[in-house]
Amino acid sequence: MCLDALLVAAAARLTAAGSPSARLDAEVLLCHVLGVDRTWLYTWGDRAAEPAVIERFETLLARREAGEPVAYLTGEREFWGLRLATEPSTLIPRPDTETLVAAALEQATAATGRLLDLGTGTGAIALAFASERPEWTVLGVDLRPEAVALARRNAARLGITNAAFCQSDWFSVLATAERFALIVSNPPYLADDDPHLARGDVRFEPVTALVAGDDGLADLNYLVRTARGHLAASGWLLLEHGAEQGAAVRQALAEAGYQEVASRRDLAGHERVTLGAWPGR
Ligand SMILES: C[S@@+](CC[C@H](N)C(=O)[O-])C[C@H]1O[C@@H](n2cnc3c(N)ncnc32)[C@H](O)[C@@H]1O
Repeated sequence: MCLDALLVAAAARLTAAGSPSARLDAEVLLCHVLGVDRTWLYTWGDRAAEPAVIERFETLLARREAGEPVAYLTGEREFWGLRLATEPSTLIPRPDTETLVAAALEQATAATGRLLDLGTGTGAIALAFASERPEWTVLGVDLRPEAVALARRNAARLGITNAAFCQSDWFSVLATAERFALIVSNPPYLADDDPHLARGDVRFEPVTALVAGDDGLADLNYLVRTARGHLAASGWLLLEHGAEQGAAVRQALAEAGYQEVASRRDLAGHERVTLGAWPGR
């Protein structure tokens, strides 16, 4: 069987299994098995598939049919043009989160400064920012040591040297006087009964990366209250949140004394990021 025919059959199986991106999934998995990119696959699709390739592809396909995320099967996902290793210990980086990176870069007007990324996971936000602002110093923290190790590996494989990572329960590892020009976070923000938890990739991701109390607002509210103590005067706090949580986060920021509070929309038009400046008191 040629590679093209293998792909057509695989895409049909994944469509039947309910994948919303069946053809793309099949291409990405086959590229992973072959160790090639998609351009190669489009060029050489008429080549015969080796039996060993078919066997390895079949194994991955069966796991994908059972719903496992492609990024966990291949062990990587692209974010902000960076190829990041992924693991089931933390969230797979989402395109929505690029809205937070773009907003942080907009606020990074000084030539140099410090950025703190809370709940860094793969290091996606920290590394994207660090790659764009080599003169800034970035610190990413996560509660889970596996995520910290993963973020460090990602920094090393990308050759990004202005980002460091350590384990911390939000701000706990920081000295009281430590201050940042920018604090960013994509914290857990789903309510424990959110229907998204039973759908798609989310079913396979750790609850520690997804769910927060108080209808999903507990961590967001905690970060709003606590970040004030670690922001430099006129520093910015930028938070990713659910599409329906913008108003609640704006209110929390305004009540806590932040100024210039505003939200940014993602590519789908949903309010996704809310930010505020800390006047410094
Ligand atoms: C929604 S994921 C975001 C991961 C990554 N920043 C991204 O955008 O792809 C939330 C992350 O927060 C981490 N986390 C949860 N509670 C935490 C806490 N108390 N302190 C630090 N990190 C925490 C989780 O382990 C997880 O990696």
